[in-house]
Amino acid sequence: MAMERMEIIEALNGALAWELRAIAMYAHYSAYVSGIHRLQLSAHFSQEVAESTTHAATVRAAIVKLDGVATTDRADTEIIHTMDYKEMLKEAYKTEMTASETYGRILPMIETLGDKELYDSLETIYFDEMRSVEELRMMLK
Ligand SMILES: [Fe+2]
Ligand SMILES: [Fe+2]
Repeated sequence: MAMERMEIIEALNGALAWELRAIAMYAHYSAYVSGIHRLQLSAHFSQEVAESTTHAATVRAAIVKLDGVATTDRADTEIIHTMDYKEMLKEAYKTEMTASETYGRILPMIETLGDKELYDSLETIYFDEMRSVEELRMMLK
């Protein structure tokens, strides 16, 4: 296998591990968010679980397409347990920032493969992450 392809698979596995962590984090926050904001935020965090699950499936499919082995482990960056919704939103912001940076780094690598379908599917995720960063920035104002 070409070195370049191995590097791309490694980068995609990093993105996949980060999605798996996001799924665990958002599911946790959806369960624990309390007070008057629970009504909206619990549903919002559940929606993020669904989105991250979709992203993980896309990244996994990309790894399969490149003949790689997809990770089943989540990124080991600690998930902070808190009951404070503002802390949850701050953690979500950090998570989405890292996700958008990760896909921003992956896209130019994918471009070298010349696979338009693969590129488009990952670009869609990149835009989702950017939208989340902006949404959280507004929520934290
Ligand atoms: Fe994601
Ligand atoms: Fe996200």
